Amino acid sequence: MKKIFYSIFIISSLIYSQKISAQSANNQKWWKEAVVYQIYPRSFKDSDGDGVGDLKGIISKLDYIKSLGIDVVWINPVYSSPNDDNGYDISDYRNIMKEFGTMEDFDNLLKGLHQRGIKLVMDVVVNHSSDEHEWFKQARSSRLSPYRNYYHWWDADRGKPNYRYSLFDVNHDAWKYDSTTNAYYLHFFSRKQPDLNWENPRLRKEIYDMMKFWAEKGVDGYRLDAFQFAAKDTTFPKFSDGFEKNFSKYYAVQNGLHDYLKEMNKEVFSKYDVMTVAEGAGNSFQDAHDMVDAERNELNMAYAFDGVDIAKPEGYSLLHFKEVFTKWDSVFAEKGWLSIFLANHDQARLVTRFGNDSNEYRDVSSKMLTTFLLTMRGTPYYYNGDELGMTNIRFNKIEDYRDMSTINEYKYQQSIGADMKKYLEEIKFKSRDNGRTPFQWDASINAGFSEGKSTWLAVNPNYTIINAAAEERDKNSCLNYFRKAIQLRKNNKVFVYGKYTLIDKSNDKVYAYTRELNGKKILIALNFTKENASFKTNYDVSKAKILLDNYSNASKNKILKPYEAVVYELK
Ligand code: NOJ
Repeated sequence: MKKIFYSIFIISSLIYSQKISAQSANNQKWWKEAVVYQIYPRSFKDSDGDGVGDLKGIISKLDYIKSLGIDVVWINPVYSSPNDDNGYDISDYRNIMKEFGTMEDFDNLLKGLHQRGIKLVMDVVVNHSSDEHEWFKQARSSRLSPYRNYYHWWDADRGKPNYRYSLFDVNHDAWKYDSTTNAYYLHFFSRKQPDLNWENPRLRKEIYDMMKFWAEKGVDGYRLDAFQFAAKDTTFPKFSDGFEKNFSKYYAVQNGLHDYLKEMNKEVFSKYDVMTVAEGAGNSFQDAHDMVDAERNELNMAYAFDGVDIAKPEGYSLLHFKEVFTKWDSVFAEKGWLSIFLANHDQARLVTRFGNDSNEYRDVSSKMLTTFLLTMRGTPYYYNGDELGMTNIRFNKIEDYRDMSTINEYKYQQSIGADMKKYLEEIKFKSRDNGRTPFQWDASINAGFSEGKSTWLAVNPNYTIINAAAEERDKNSCLNYFRKAIQLRKNNKVFVYGKYTLIDKSNDKVYAYTRELNGKKILIALNFTKENASFKTNYDVSKAKILLDNYSNASKNKILKPYEAVVYELK
């Protein structure tokens, strides 16, 4: 009886493992296997000494980028912009921001990346434009302008529109009164970022044509900025009191959004071999699925904020972290695809928020987080500077900040009589500027970022110790660890497609999981604390082969050193 049971078990596991491999064979795609490296152009490398990073600067670092082993670069907006929101307010979608260079520089950058086998993903900011875009200038000039309906207007003759919350406005008011035509316009972000009206087919066609313009140049993908907010109920009904505390529920993935995505797919994506990713994954797993289910022909993937939002100044619960990532993985296990990230230009630094940036633990905890990002299922998005373990700068005064959202929020908090000392402390942890300080290339002036007198945002004074040149020389640096972890992922498809299983679920110090594909089984164990911590598993790790570890002598006794990360191949 036992024997029969055993053979049934063997047969069904064989069928199951074939199912996994058959599924992954059908569904293999370059963008699933890619590691995406995000470049914040303003802070990457300045070539002309004006203190602002630029395209020629990036070009001068192409060999460095190639040396990382990444496959795709996602570059933050480089289009013409008055820079109210560092390029997320576009005044001309078919031109390059003067501070960043020229279209020729852009073409050279794209060519240089392609020559090195690296693809380029553009940031497409089309929930809103700049108020200095020609469309908006025309629209605001007259109620009869043919561009009026490119935006959302509420004529003041009808009274005041129902309140809408704005993320970046000094008063958090998304309606701005404009006296020229006695009307309000809508801006979910700053006043200089009026929302585009996606209900207008003419606007939609302009956007698709613009996207094709970049695809014809050869770009390899699009990241859709804030696009989940594009569809709106344009009757602008009253929302329940306090809705702004969960505005996403009212703003994200409203009726019409999937139709726009399907249309965009038909008009643009289906015509090119491009990867597509949306910022934001809606309000539910169903929303996320609907955006990325291959059969629906919308997008390849979205990125959800649930993971990145977990870090708080007072710390975070690893159990919660595990639960979030495990849940998202399980929802996409059979269908659809995920992105994995813990940092980007909208967040403070990875190691400060999720690890430990003290002198003692910065190096190991940063490597531990890198291990996590590169051993999970889903396409990893890795933010420039995190490969060096760059940390928050922690400015003391508001005058040091450049980020409009941090400054406007400061003014708002002041206007409501908030405790400003407390606010200043909070932004040391969370202001976006912490993640935007210039890239630390070497120990020379301005960290080798710029030869100018000053830089647009201060350089972190720890650049004399934390910089790429020093890390190049050290074979055990964060930088070289990042390269190793990428090679490991590239050489083992189990990290891309393998089944994920959480182990030792209730362990609040160690995150351990296995990845499995076609008989290959990997166990990853990550200590998220500064104490030794043990984990439980029935697998015999003492006999396992160590594929990667962030100490030179990896633990094989199920007790991990502070922030230790070990990747075991199980026998
Ligand atoms: C999300 C972008 O990542 C962020 O930097 C920007 O401020 C807003 N969208 C508005 O475009």
